Amino acid sequence: MSAPELDSLQGELLNAIASAPDLAKLEDVRIAALGRKGHVAALMEQLGALSAHERRSFGQAVNTLKDAVSAALEQKRQELTQIALSVQLAAEQADVTLPVRPGPLAEGSIHPVSQVMDEITEIFADMGFSIAEGPDIETDFNNFTALNIPPEHPARQDHDTFYFAERPDGTRPVLRTHTSPVQIRTMLANKPPLRVIAPGRVYRSDSDQTHTPMFHQVEGLVIDEETHLGHLKWVLEEFCKAFFEIQDVKMRFRASHFPFTEPSMEVDIGYSKQGDEIRIGEGDQWLEILGCGMVHPNVLRNVELDPERYQGFAFGMGIDRIAMLKYGMPDLRAFFAGDLCWLKHYGFMPLAVPTLAAGLSS
Ligand code: DAH
Repeated sequence: MSAPELDSLQGELLNAIASAPDLAKLEDVRIAALGRKGHVAALMEQLGALSAHERRSFGQAVNTLKDAVSAALEQKRQELTQIALSVQLAAEQADVTLPVRPGPLAEGSIHPVSQVMDEITEIFADMGFSIAEGPDIETDFNNFTALNIPPEHPARQDHDTFYFAERPDGTRPVLRTHTSPVQIRTMLANKPPLRVIAPGRVYRSDSDQTHTPMFHQVEGLVIDEETHLGHLKWVLEEFCKAFFEIQDVKMRFRASHFPFTEPSMEVDIGYSKQGDEIRIGEGDQWLEILGCGMVHPNVLRNVELDPERYQGFAFGMGIDRIAMLKYGMPDLRAFFAGDLCWLKHYGFMPLAVPTLAAGLSS
């Protein structure tokens, strides 16, 4: 092939590259030019038939053509990749401000207990509490003894405890009967000041319309050098206002007794019931929702804290109870029956995360 022929071949190939409309067509051009059976390979085959002198100059000319074609291919490839990306970005643009379209993925819903736990967490986080956790299977020490309920204490009978078989070392684990052992874990692992809540599952061998063998509580604990009963009342009142989303929640603090607090109180919420509808803050019916008090000095001693220096309050609230009250769900057993109709009716949208700013349950 003569030099002008080589030039015109190069011109043709560069034209084909320049006019390739997309990456696939460009690849066709590349294969036709540089592939195993392409133009350049065919030219190389002709080399053998040439004299040494011609071979040198022809070889150089073919290499020049090859380099020019490769460079043009690479440049075009980059251009086309960029264009393909822009087209893809434009096509896949998503308006993230659009509301979620209910589709098959929206079939699942958030269980009211999970929703209420998120609401509780949001409210206490806003008051500076952090989240503490403990296991469902607890030691007898954490669940009872450290909470000032020693082995022969009558309060043990009230708890309808699920016991595990005795371990070789003589200890007997339990399914925790309340979230209060998380108080012990928190105080053993951290130094005051402490301000935590601990939501979770608890277990008691008990079952009727208002009791299930597994239910949910949230524990609260504040320990420092100056917290007093006034703070406890304020925190609980603020919590109830935020949680029930009404300004005047009727609350009743009744003197009570718990081994781990002194003094101790139980708190009731006022409500009325018309037909099946529950109205919080009206009427003269009361529902107990929590127990609370100032942490007992013996509990502080059990976790090596000096009661002369440290004090604080604790509370334990029934999550299922307050969920029933807020969302008007009359039967506790339905919570755990796994009935799809019930879940569809009372469940929450997965993306409707409760925040104080946006309204907890809206
Ligand atoms: N643990 C108690 C129960 O399950 C509730 C409770 C009462 C927790 C008083 C507390 C408290 O932290 O101070 O019945």
